Formats: sequence, structure tokens, C-alpha cells
Amino acid sequence: MLEVRNLHATIAGKEILKGINLTVRDGEIHAIMGPNGSGKSTLSAVLTGNPLYEVTDGVVIFEGQDLLQMKPEDRARAGLFLSFQYPVEIPGVSMTNFMRAAINAKREYEGKEPLNAADFMKLMREKRKLVDLDSKLSRRSVNEGFSGGEKKRNEIFQMAMLEPKLSILDETDSGLDVDAMRVVADGVNKMHNDTTSAIVITHYERLLDMIKPNVVHVLYNGRIVKTAGPQLAREIEQRGYDWIKEAADAAFGE
Ligand SMILES: Nc1ncnc2c1ncn2[C@@H]1O[C@H](COP(=O)(O)OP(=O)(O)O)[C@@H](O)[C@H]1O
Ligand SMILES: [Mg+2]
Repeated sequence: MLEVRNLHATIAGKEILKGINLTVRDGEIHAIMGPNGSGKSTLSAVLTGNPLYEVTDGVVIFEGQDLLQMKPEDRARAGLFLSFQYPVEIPGVSMTNFMRAAINAKREYEGKEPLNAADFMKLMREKRKLVDLDSKLSRRSVNEGFSGGEKKRNEIFQMAMLEPKLSILDETDSGLDVDAMRVVADGVNKMHNDTTSAIVITHYERLLDMIKPNVVHVLYNGRIVKTAGPQLAREIEQRGYDWIKEAADAAFGE
């Protein structure tokens, strides 16, 4: 599904990613944890093609394609989905129109005809039910005046509609209450099968209890410094990051 090799990236001339290696196979869920400022959001931004970041070295292969050579919109159309840590509001554009444009752009990329109105509405209904999204919400403008929980639900709905191959969820450090966590976890779990994968970036051990990743990584100072099974999330919850930081600082001479 995804292979990241020796990825280096800078922002404003400062190196943030210092050689990331990461392999995500079909059907796997990976969690990325790590102290603030480690480069977690930078990694998701680089994978989805945010132009603020400059890739200075490394290779990323997504579904057999050279991801870094693809335009951001083509990455999305090829099946990469990024949840937004800070979702944008788009006043005047209804969720329905927004989703129709997104779905049809993806279908065009796949060489398919646009969905007709009836099939599109059917898909909307199906997916709305799946994520328990109120129909009133889907008639409103994208994210405008949505509460934090509503934005989350909406985002998971977008994910369900687009049926991405790889979802990257970058969760905020604060403001995600237990209900919102449940929405995210249920969405990821319902949509997950052995041909799709997810990368969940989070501080919350609790979220990882609900999602059950196959692999947990710790990103620290621009590198993945520890990779283990799901028990690592619990260990971090109990012990914090200091023991991991110390080992990494010793290994990388910082
Ligand atoms: N626009 C920017 N200009 C300079 N430095 C930045 C910018 N955005 C992020 N950084 C720095 O990049 C580092 C990694 O940030 P980020 O990827 O957001 O970390 P995380 O998501 O792990 O908390 C931090 O040290 C942050 O200060
Ligand atoms: Mg972040």
C-alpha cells in the first residue's frame, strides 16, 4: 500500500523530517504517536502534498506509484485521504455539492462516468446511515458553524463517501472528547477491510483502545524511533515518552 523510504523534508529551510522509513501493507492500521513538535503533522502534510513543505530526500511509493511526483489532487483521487486537524469551513457550498464534486472527480480519474443524481443520493443515504450523520447536517454548508463533534462526524462521512485506500487521520492534541473519539473509531473500524489501510496519528491511548492498530510507531525529532505492537500505546500512557527520547538521543547523538 505505502512505502516511505528515507524521507527528509524541510519547512522554511528547517529540517523537520530526518529520514522516515515506514511500510504500511494492505489491511493494516498503523498508529503514530510522539511528543508535540516531533513532525507527525508534517509527515501527513508531506504525504498529501502540502506545498509549504519541501521534500529534500527520499522516496514514497503509494500503490505502486511514485507519490511525490503526483499532484495533491491526484493523490486524493488515487485513494489517499487526509483528515484535517483544523477543518476548513466553506460557506455557501453545501455538503451535497461538495461531495458530488469530490466523488465525480475521483470517478473521472478512474475512467468512470459521473454518478447520476439518483445514484449519488442513494450513496449519500447509505454512507450517512453508516456514520450516523444527521440529514440536516449534510444540507448545511461545509463545516460552517459545526461543533467539534459535528466536524469529526462530517469528516468521517467524507471518508466513507470517498472510500479511500489509505486514510491518514491526524488528531488534535486537545478538544477531542470521548464521543468524538467514538465517532472516529467507529468510522475507521466500519470502513476497514483487508484491502484498505489507515494511519492514525494521535496522543490518545484511549482512541487506540477503540481502533486497535496492528503497529504503533513513535515519531520523535523527525525520526521513527520505536515501532512495536499495540501494547506500546499502553506503555506510553503509563511511562510517558522520556525513556524513548533518552534512548533516541543517545542513538542519534543529540
Ligand atoms: N510554518 C512553520 N515554520 C517553521 N517551523 C514550523 C512550521 N510549521 C511547523 N514547524 C515546526 O515543525 C516541527 C514539527 O511540527 P509538527 O509536524 O506540527 O509536529 P507534531 O504534529 O508532531 O506536533 C515543530 O518544531 C514546528 O515548530
Ligand atoms: Mg500535529
